[in-house]
Amino acid sequence: VGEVTGASRLVAGSMVDCDPAESGCLLRYAYAPSLLPPPAAGVDSMWRYRDLLPVAGGPVRFPLPVGGSPLIAAPRLGTRLGLGDLWLKDETRGTSASNKDRATALVIESGLRHGADTVTVASTGNAAVATALGAAAAGLRATIFVPASVRPTRLALMLAAGARVLLVEAGYDTAFRLSREAAARFGWLDRNTGVNPLTIEAKKSVAFEVWEQLDRRAPDVVAAPVGDGPTLCGVAKGFRELVACGAIERPPRLLGVQAAGCQPLVRAWEGASPRPGERDPAGTIADGIAVSAPSSGDLVLYEVRHSDGAMVAVPDAALLEAIGALAATTGVLAEPAGAAAVAGLAAAFQRDLVSADALTVALVTGRELQAPASRAAPGRSWTIRGEIAEVEQALLGE
Ligand SMILES: Cc1ncc(COP(=O)(O)O)c(C=O)c1O
Repeated sequence: VGEVTGASRLVAGSMVDCDPAESGCLLRYAYAPSLLPPPAAGVDSMWRYRDLLPVAGGPVRFPLPVGGSPLIAAPRLGTRLGLGDLWLKDETRGTSASNKDRATALVIESGLRHGADTVTVASTGNAAVATALGAAAAGLRATIFVPASVRPTRLALMLAAGARVLLVEAGYDTAFRLSREAAARFGWLDRNTGVNPLTIEAKKSVAFEVWEQLDRRAPDVVAAPVGDGPTLCGVAKGFRELVACGAIERPPRLLGVQAAGCQPLVRAWEGASPRPGERDPAGTIADGIAVSAPSSGDLVLYEVRHSDGAMVAVPDAALLEAIGALAATTGVLAEPAGAAAVAGLAAAFQRDLVSADALTVALVTGRELQAPASRAAPGRSWTIRGEIAEVEQALLGE
């Protein structure tokens, strides 16, 4: 995909660490069947695919379990949606109850190997919580940038984990810029989604797991929610690597799902380019995918197009319906962004974008977590407008 990133690197064997500062690059490996693990009774961990991850040998230091999420057959949900062979990849079972645990684990693992002491991320919520918890477990300090409108339960979780949290009034785009600037200025580990290639590397492990859990077959269609984009791009890269390793013949079609209240990539997909300076409003209950300017937007469109897939947008009412249908037919509890792939599949089926007999996998990417009841949270938060000087002032005055 050099035409997209312009910075792909050819990487030898099972490889070395990638320079996280080299933003926009996609890693490549010397693909061969031997890079895939031998068949096993179960898929227990993301580290199972270490030969296709950029961590050198030696024991894994990141202490929390990661990956190995269940793939659940969902026949009754499928019947409701019109799909005859529907499966859910339930990414809500991990430490932070979202798929953000994978990228957090890989970035922190790499950081631990390089002596990092502080990790930073900007997030609408889930990556922030995953990073706060992962850093706490690994003994790193976390400095996290979130929109000031972040859900109170998520803020409470970050503070319970001891994170320093900057609540940015100017919103997610500014939080993202500040986190990156702070990483460069203070030498922190930059876990920002899309710009750190390790985030896509980690997220691709979902594809490997689905392939194994389907008895080493690729599905016909995979549906994923799209915020910044690395979740979908990771799935695409994972299946492409399975092709490159000779494990499957062709990758699945990808269905990217956005919320109708924030659908910059669906608009771009449909050929409606925004006027310069125009931003999609972030007006949806699905805050995890309320990203007006997705960091991996071009790559998402490339991957969807090259998979012969599609992009669809779903209104909040459809997200709520999907949450209810998931709970009632499968017992899986999802938050709005986490249920977007299911809502998107319903819409796609209605529009003949997915056929009834396709082997279809929906990623369920997140569930609402409760904050623990604790007497005094060790973390601290500051509300700032959106200037790097305010960050310095907050941290210096600590
Ligand atoms: C629950 C949930 N699903 C999906 C996404 C979208 O992920 P990505 O930014 O990789 O597109 C997010 C992002 O925060 C999320 O929180």
